Amino acid sequence: MGLNNFWVVRLSYELEEIKGVGPATAERLRRAGFTTLEAVAVTPIRELIAKCGLGYDTAVKLSEVARNRIGLNFKTAREVWERRQSMARCSTGSKELDRILGGGVETQAITEFIGEYGVGKTQICFKLTVMAQLPREEGGLGGKALYIDTEGTFSPERIYQISSAMGLNPQVVLDNIIVSRAYNSDHQLLLVDHLFELCPRENVKLVVVDSIISHFRGEYIGRENLSERQQKLNECLHKLLRLAEIYNLAVIVTNQVQANPTAFFGDPNRPAGGNVMAHACTHRVYIRKSKNNTRLAKVIDSPYLPELEARFIISEEGIRDAEI
Ligand SMILES: Nc1ncnc2c1ncn2[C@@H]1O[C@H](COP(=O)(O)OP(=O)(O)OP(=O)(O)O)[C@@H](O)[C@H]1O
Ligand SMILES: [Mg+2]
Repeated sequence: MGLNNFWVVRLSYELEEIKGVGPATAERLRRAGFTTLEAVAVTPIRELIAKCGLGYDTAVKLSEVARNRIGLNFKTAREVWERRQSMARCSTGSKELDRILGGGVETQAITEFIGEYGVGKTQICFKLTVMAQLPREEGGLGGKALYIDTEGTFSPERIYQISSAMGLNPQVVLDNIIVSRAYNSDHQLLLVDHLFELCPRENVKLVVVDSIISHFRGEYIGRENLSERQQKLNECLHKLLRLAEIYNLAVIVTNQVQANPTAFFGDPNRPAGGNVMAHACTHRVYIRKSKNNTRLAKVIDSPYLPELEARFIISEEGIRDAEI
């Protein structure tokens, strides 16, 4: 069976198809937000127990069956390779930025944009939600975009402006962006749980979380709460990565910077979120303001992209290459 067929067929499984899951358990799962086998398969057992009130044995069995049914356990290297071949890239609208990203932001991965306020992280996200809708041959992913807005900065007017400047129909573009405002970190995690059902149903190919960290930083204050904060953040990022892998979509997160008091020279800022962010995000891009209102982006951590720099500007059509 071809790989694409495999993924399509798999989506049609229902919770009740799992042996031993009666309507009552299925209902408990659904009420807790687990509406698909995929969501069950990637959720830690203790979380299934806590959120759904399941017994330990039931949760273990459920998790195992779900993983087996969707083939998450063992694959041959060739299967992994074939899966990587279905990876697609979405252009950012700036050839320079695409170049340092190896051709654009990729599916099956998390790309993180880091930088201080006003540097253009949100602008890049806006541009990507429009670009993702273009067909693959035009640099898009041929699907919808989904935007989790944690700071209340999503701007439909700006999307309207970007799509008009690109010669697209802004109404259609706006129709194809699903927006959700996350009001706190728990809500943010809940929304991410829902994506396992929403993304395949709506053909979402690009998910933005802007910003991934603001609620966590605002709610967990002080050293004594740091480990809990990091654990929750980790949970959120790992779910997003599983989502990207299972549904072959691109995940974009934005991150803030924090002052590094031990820095004696050079840039005194470093990405917030510590090791958790560093490990969970596939590609990290650090953006700085530069001369003549340009922005300088640099890949700072990636399994295979070199640490290259790109210069771009924020413009009517979103972002584009700087002309200098
Ligand atoms: N239509 C536009 N044309 C040109 N520049 C614009 C336009 N809209 C916004 N900008 C510029 O984008 C910048 C703000 O970028 P953005 O909101 O993406 O920052 P950010 O990195 O998300 O910051 P924060 O951390 O505060 O969320 C400002 O410098 C603003 O002048
Ligand atoms: Mg922003």
